[in-house]
Amino acid sequence: MSGRIPQSFIDELMNRVDIVDVIDSRVQLKKAGHEYKACCPFHTEKTPSFTVSPNKQFYHCFGCGAHGTALGFLMEYEHLGFVEAIEDLAGQAGLEIPYEQGHSQSSHPHTGKLYDILERASLYYQQQLRSHPQASQAIDYLKQRGFSGEIAAQYGFGFAPPGWNNLIDELGREPFALKTLIDSGMVVEKGRNGPYDRFRNRIMIPILDRRGRTIAFGGRELESPSGEASGPKYLNSSETPVFHKGRELYGLYQARKTGSRLQRLLVVEGYLDVVALAQHGIDYAVATLGTATTVDHMEVIYRTVREVIFCFDGDRAGRAAAWRALENALPAQREGREARFLFLPDGEDPDTMVRSDGKDAFEARFQDARPLSAYLFDTLMQDLDMSSVDGRARLVAAAKPLLEKIPDPVYKKMMRDQLAQLARIQADHLGSASQPASRQRVPPARPHSPPARTPVRLAIAIILQHPGLVSQLSELPTLTGIQHPGMDLLCQLLEIMNKDPHLNSAALLERWRETEVASHLSKLAQMELFGDDQGLLAELQDTLERLSGTATDQRIDELYDKILGQTISETELSEYNQLLANKKQHHIKSKSGGN
Ligand code: CTP
Ligand code: MN
Repeated sequence: MSGRIPQSFIDELMNRVDIVDVIDSRVQLKKAGHEYKACCPFHTEKTPSFTVSPNKQFYHCFGCGAHGTALGFLMEYEHLGFVEAIEDLAGQAGLEIPYEQGHSQSSHPHTGKLYDILERASLYYQQQLRSHPQASQAIDYLKQRGFSGEIAAQYGFGFAPPGWNNLIDELGREPFALKTLIDSGMVVEKGRNGPYDRFRNRIMIPILDRRGRTIAFGGRELESPSGEASGPKYLNSSETPVFHKGRELYGLYQARKTGSRLQRLLVVEGYLDVVALAQHGIDYAVATLGTATTVDHMEVIYRTVREVIFCFDGDRAGRAAAWRALENALPAQREGREARFLFLPDGEDPDTMVRSDGKDAFEARFQDARPLSAYLFDTLMQDLDMSSVDGRARLVAAAKPLLEKIPDPVYKKMMRDQLAQLARIQADHLGSASQPASRQRVPPARPHSPPARTPVRLAIAIILQHPGLVSQLSELPTLTGIQHPGMDLLCQLLEIMNKDPHLNSAALLERWRETEVASHLSKLAQMELFGDDQGLLAELQDTLERLSGTATDQRIDELYDKILGQTISETELSEYNQLLANKKQHHIKSKSGGN
């Protein structure tokens, strides 16, 4: 159950994780001096302008302006929410999140309840499969399909008993629980006699997200002994705040659990194909959830592995599904990523195939899988007479819009060269290549011009980039009362670092996430600073003192105005005298200091 995540935990997490590890496991980094470089994952480029600084715990792209901390990177790259990204990082760092009770910080305070009720529903269904008097039909069916008890347990198979309110009775009796059941898609709100269970008399297949949380169900009908169907074969959860079927892949959680063994993913059509394959030792299959493969799916896949094999039935529906997959795979193609297409003999699906072939023979079929480019061109040329000019012109016309979907310039050029060869024309006769579309969300910031170096900004930049220096300042000048843009921020930074001298840059930056000053701060975190630690410490001390001097001058002027206006109080007068005395002394000190 999630509550608020305490600030101190976020600080600790930011101190604990290394941005280089976090990014390197997703985008291969190359060491370059003190920093690391790569081609930017947020825009298309040929030469690397994406840099990661281990010192600052910060990434920055000089090409598109994308920037942030390890946490920001995860949110952007993995499309995670703030809390999700924290949970992910904490998991990797082996830290337990000490959720505070009370209001939830997540943008969907309600989602915690949804995950919770879905989990409880799943446990209930699994329990029913073991103990409900009418579960035998479901068990027999699964057995007859060849599923072992072990694999059924591993995939969390359950049984929704017949009847309209089993789940409502089990989970919906607590206050507000019925609403949560409705919101989670498990209960239909408006029946003739009020709310009722969506899933009745079905084998329940829980759908897990990539972190193993139950987010939805597929409910398969029980085939009657005559093989006759009574309703739709599958009933699936509707879209909810925690379930978007265009982004989820059935079986991905289990496949990822195999860890470094996971080299490729096999995309199949059905839930039960995935499970049958797993039972026969092919534990890297995933399925879309009754939808075509989307561009989002492709991104999820390529963040996990470099190689994907689509495995479809050889029938018309299978070919149509494969073509859709190809269209949506094109935007995700680039060097180093691979997609191939395998068609099974007509009338077979992966489930039946793996049962008759076994693992090795099934995997041997992968050798016949066609590379994406071959599949694309062969399909287009199928009905064309390539010996005629007309046929070749048609090929060009059909292929061009598809190739336009490829944002990666290198991969696109290779495809265009291949098309030119097939059409027997020169590549530059294919017409001008239009600007590649951005592969992912356009990053919010444009390449930025660096902010002007005012003393306040300089001080902030030094603290952000070298927070450890604050504890080395010989004295902390008073900065209160200065009317100067950025002064508040500077004071807050000094205060935080005074209290928590161990915080690093990323932890500091994260304090201002989603505030108005966040983008300003990240610019300052990227400001180029010159000199070593000692030099920067001296510069910081000096800047703070000069600012403090301005503060004093401002206050002296203010008090002097009051003297002139005869509105000054006793205390203010003594403050005035004290300030003047300090100033004189400071003046003498810095004179004698030889500066
Ligand atoms: N599907 C669906 N609704 C249906 C039929 C199918 O959502 N009425 C989706 C399911 O995600 C299903 C996939 O399409 O897994 C493929 O369908 P199919 O091959 O018929 O299902 P299998 O999972 O192979 O199940 P079975 O072998 O029992 O037919
Ligand atoms: Mn099937």
